[in-house]
Amino acid sequence: MSFLPKPHGGKLIQAYNPNLDLSLIEKELEIDAIALSDLELIGVGLFSPLTGFLGKADYESVVSSMRLVDNTIWSIPVTLPVSTETAATLKVGEEMKLIFNSEVYGVIKVSEWYEPDLDKEALKVYKTLELAHPGVRRLYERGPVYVAGEVTLIKKPEKGVFTDVWLEPKETRALFEEKGWKTVVGFQTRNPIHRAHEYIQKAALETVDGLFVNPLVGETKSDDIPADVRLKSYRVLLENYYPTERVQLGVYPAAMRYAGPREAIFHAIARKNFGCTHFIVGRDHAGVGNYYGTYDAQLIFSEFEEGELGIKPLFFEHSFYCNKCEGMASDKTCPHNNEDRVILSGTKVREMLRTGTLPPSTFSRKEVVEVLIEGMKETTTV
Ligand code: ADX
Repeated sequence: MSFLPKPHGGKLIQAYNPNLDLSLIEKELEIDAIALSDLELIGVGLFSPLTGFLGKADYESVVSSMRLVDNTIWSIPVTLPVSTETAATLKVGEEMKLIFNSEVYGVIKVSEWYEPDLDKEALKVYKTLELAHPGVRRLYERGPVYVAGEVTLIKKPEKGVFTDVWLEPKETRALFEEKGWKTVVGFQTRNPIHRAHEYIQKAALETVDGLFVNPLVGETKSDDIPADVRLKSYRVLLENYYPTERVQLGVYPAAMRYAGPREAIFHAIARKNFGCTHFIVGRDHAGVGNYYGTYDAQLIFSEFEEGELGIKPLFFEHSFYCNKCEGMASDKTCPHNNEDRVILSGTKVREMLRTGTLPPSTFSRKEVVEVLIEGMKETTTV
């Protein structure tokens, strides 16, 4: 008997078929890197129960009420944008090859296409119309018509340095079972793992059987630290400070949406599909700039019945190292003032790394910082 949660919607979608006969499919549709990632994640079931890009009714329902038409919770639209010229060539029921960099990665069976209300999507999903928001900017850049239809993944993109840590939901589920973990907490990050991340991960791990460190490695904004550099830092951190029998590293290859609260729900659902029973949500989860309140991404979970979501969020307050406490803490556990606390903004840390200045070991482990400084040198000289 499995203790792991059922995939979202009840069944792990498996829509990968490398042997699909393409000989009768003539039409082609060029897709971008984000659509390629979405195609793959639908194909391997990380976005279960989605079997394709959202149709109009599901899209509108997700945008307005965070649910698919069948009432399943779903917070971020997964859509396939095309230009108006391409839309004019579409036919309902037709199959099209999905092409990226001249290679066929999948097939879509076109069920419909529609013009989304992008302002409404921006306001409901991202809570702003400002183009300075990276998710909103991408939304407007990506095209005015959405094509819907079921997809088949034909080819999985090359994984490069991520090969050994690119685990599909069916693989993580099998791994967690094999390890005998009945409870597993998932951790999302788009950053290197600093002491505050380590603290909340380990605090969570004290109460469950296993920790799934699951950094996002899909598209991020250009000033986030590149995923390959981060991966090296995760490996060195885990080797030095985490017990191997309790911790599993695996990447989350989705694009970052920066949608704060809505993305926290989306992240939790994907981790449930990986087989996690719990999911960490700290301060300003998936946030950017000042678009969301510090704990909005926690508050949004109260809009759903816990059993309905099927994964338990674990909330953490803003954590830091306190020089007086001589340890990691939060407002909940530390009575001291900000001047005793080591708090550095992401922007400040990135600037330190670029200029080769070491952030203190109370902020980030020395081994991690060394890898990041080295990695940033390599990326800035390219
Ligand atoms: S993101 O993927 O959520 O955008 P980030 O690396 O900033 O990335 O955070 C990863 C997770 O750690 C999120 O759940 C976030 O809320 C939490 N987190 C990050 N920094 C802190 C902190 N200092 N205290 C508490 N939680 C934090």
